[in-house]
Amino acid sequence: MPRDLHAVAKEDTLQGLPQLTKSPEAVENSSANMDEDRSSAMDATDEDDAVERFQTASTSKRDELHPYTQSLSPKDVDSCTRLEEEAFPPQERCTREKFQYRLKHCGELSLGIFTSHSENQIPTSETAAPVYSGAPERKAVLLGHILATKTTNPTVTDKDMAIPSPDNPDPSAGHKEEGRTICIHSLAVLPEFRKRGLGTTLMKAFLQRTESHDIADRAALIAHDHLIPYYESFGFVNKGESACKFGGGGWYDMVKDLEPGDKPSRQGGAE
Ligand SMILES: CC(C)(COP(=O)(O)OP(=O)(O)OC[C@H]1O[C@@H](n2cnc3c(N)ncnc32)[C@H](O)[C@@H]1OP(=O)(O)O)[C@@H](O)C(=O)NCCC(=O)NCCS
Repeated sequence: MPRDLHAVAKEDTLQGLPQLTKSPEAVENSSANMDEDRSSAMDATDEDDAVERFQTASTSKRDELHPYTQSLSPKDVDSCTRLEEEAFPPQERCTREKFQYRLKHCGELSLGIFTSHSENQIPTSETAAPVYSGAPERKAVLLGHILATKTTNPTVTDKDMAIPSPDNPDPSAGHKEEGRTICIHSLAVLPEFRKRGLGTTLMKAFLQRTESHDIADRAALIAHDHLIPYYESFGFVNKGESACKFGGGGWYDMVKDLEPGDKPSRQGGAE
């Protein structure tokens, strides 16, 4: 793992973002944690445009989850695969093999949003690990994820979407550590947890982390037209139809220049 991200790989604090929750252990041990977390979230939100999204997207429903972000690791492969099955049509899903590759080679570029829960009806509960040994029934359940690689290209290409494998030994396929473009392959939230601001939180935390650690010059992704305004709200610019044919094509290239070392981007849905 690159040293520049090592310090933040375990758990992010979402600096500049509405405080979502304390650590799972703190949540577990606090009898009044819901009220505390809600008030701290409200304190932090006056100056943050993201809160408008959260408030209109049922803030209380989101706060009940006490969501927190954390880098993903190879042990999350089953939860990511399950989440992807829930979130995307078959032809657009990241396969288990791709998750394995990306989590192994550049897991520090990934981010998950979790809830500490004993609820077994959440699709990713089955594959969730216990939060801590004192309460094995409480699990770190994955609600959403971002997976990314790096490329030397300015936009996402089919080679970037691919991974090297025995069937496709092409060395130009997959993650390029020296690349200065981050390819965001998969932003997804479980369907039943959408429209609560989780996707926005994930993306903002991801961009904040990449900017503060100066690991790339830009972030790029491919999007279908209906999500162009959503990505524009984070500062991505539509570069037109993409040459990428992944999943049947029909994508647009979206690119955001990153501002290394800067404070969290102020661009957001309310601007
Ligand atoms: C896109 C996605 C990650 C958003 O997650 P989320 O947690 O619901 O996002 P937020 O609550 O932060 O924001 C919701 C906003 O997302 C946008 N959005 C989400 N899905 C949309 C869709 N199908 N069409 C248009 N806008 C959409 C809207 O702007 C919405 O705002 P609204 O609540 O005012 O309508 C989620 O819908 C998802 O997982 N979709 C399926 C996977 C996918 O298409 N990922 C993008 C790959 S390019």
